[in-house]
Amino acid sequence: MKKRIQLAFDISWTHVESHWRMPGSWVDQHHPNIGMFEEAARTAERGGFDLIFLGDSTGIPDTWKGSIDDAVRYGVAWPRFDMSPWITAMSRVTSHIGYGLTYSSTFMHPFYTARLLNSMDHITNGRMAFNVVTSQRRADYGNYGYDELPDHNDRYDRLEEFIDVCRALWTSVDPDAFVWDKKTGIVADPAKVRHINHKGKYFKVKGPLSVVPSPQISPIVLQAGGSPRGTKAAAHVADHVFGLTKALPLMVKQREELDVALVAEGKDPEKVGILWSIRIIVGETEAEAIALRESLMEGVPEEAAGVWLSHNSGYDMSQLPPRFSLRELQERIVAANASPVGFVGLLLKKYGEHAEITREEFFRHGLHAATGYSLTIAGTAAQVADQLEEMFEATGRRGGFMISVSQGAPRAIMLNIIDYLVPELQRRGRYRTAYTGRTLRENLAT
Ligand SMILES: Cc1cc2nc3c(=O)[nH]c(=O)nc-3n(C[C@H](O)[C@H](O)[C@H](O)COP(=O)(O)O)c2cc1C
Repeated sequence: MKKRIQLAFDISWTHVESHWRMPGSWVDQHHPNIGMFEEAARTAERGGFDLIFLGDSTGIPDTWKGSIDDAVRYGVAWPRFDMSPWITAMSRVTSHIGYGLTYSSTFMHPFYTARLLNSMDHITNGRMAFNVVTSQRRADYGNYGYDELPDHNDRYDRLEEFIDVCRALWTSVDPDAFVWDKKTGIVADPAKVRHINHKGKYFKVKGPLSVVPSPQISPIVLQAGGSPRGTKAAAHVADHVFGLTKALPLMVKQREELDVALVAEGKDPEKVGILWSIRIIVGETEAEAIALRESLMEGVPEEAAGVWLSHNSGYDMSQLPPRFSLRELQERIVAANASPVGFVGLLLKKYGEHAEITREEFFRHGLHAATGYSLTIAGTAAQVADQLEEMFEATGRRGGFMISVSQGAPRAIMLNIIDYLVPELQRRGRYRTAYTGRTLRENLAT
């Protein structure tokens, strides 16, 4: 039997890339509006999707020119809400689809987070996933008492301990601890409720968690580390992993590196899928899809791309000279403790260690990355399905794809995926025709 491709929708972004100006955009009068999120969730469930994903970063970008002005002006990476209450509302109009919520292990406390996710797992009937991130953007840190980003590897040490504590808390009350015996007045059996007495490098937590165990006990943990240290952490904590779609050999390499890290953790690589982040435009004809993809680039000012690139790399790209060495730029980004595997890291892989690049070339690539253009595959349902199958096969047939649909983009982008691509994948035996599990964990396993 053919392995099923999993699909998720990433609706993290609102109108970051100027797509909100396009006809049919969800934004405008609809954002922020819970009705829009509910419609997106219902639509994704109609398409049998595994997950709706909501990423997060909390600070308004301020690395570009040392100011928030251009970010505010062009709507780059803002506005963004704490999505936990919105997920609660979306879950009430759906029954099967899962929800991925993002919090930072650098800023949050595991006791609070474990308790919140337990509540949400109850409300959603076992459909919660937790995307745990270390946060790599300076703007986020300014809101939590830091002047600079802490060491990249230390952040991952803390992330691993954070999830170890969450899991200990989630299992600190046995599923059968509650008896609610009206005759004796006994609520729960003390033998089935334990302190965790955790004393680690970052956290001291006594426990137990003061709640009823939730349907999944431990919500699904997602992680997206792409550097060597990030990959090791993903292997330690994650049930499922996020990856960035890039040149196919680099995706194959990432899968291989994750498998090695999983084996080192004593885990079975067959059980841990990667959802590759991608953008997809499906048209009734190839020409229609390609025209829509080209239009994504229209009217995006260089400043907006600069804000986005500077925010993600921790380096003010407005300072770039007319010509520069990519290696030197990458060294500055790494020295600032941002991710070594971001946009400039990928450019280095493309052009080689000794490459020099002009400011114009750099911003041309930057615009493609910031608008999502470089991650977008466009075509008919059959053409897109061919490409997805090729990537899925080459990367070990575990997991699938997370399709980014900015709410600023025309609504038809999401609808065409559901109405054209999903049936095509079903015809090929690559996609579910019904949800069979009770919880997200069960649905991901089938
Ligand atoms: C699909 C995907 C989703 C991500 N979501 C978030 C997010 O919501 N918030 C965030 O701060 N970082 C997010 N990241 C960044 C990762 O957590 C990670 O920092 C990045 O992949 C670089 O890897 P490294 O941390 O190992 O250097 C995401 C990455 C990917 C590929």
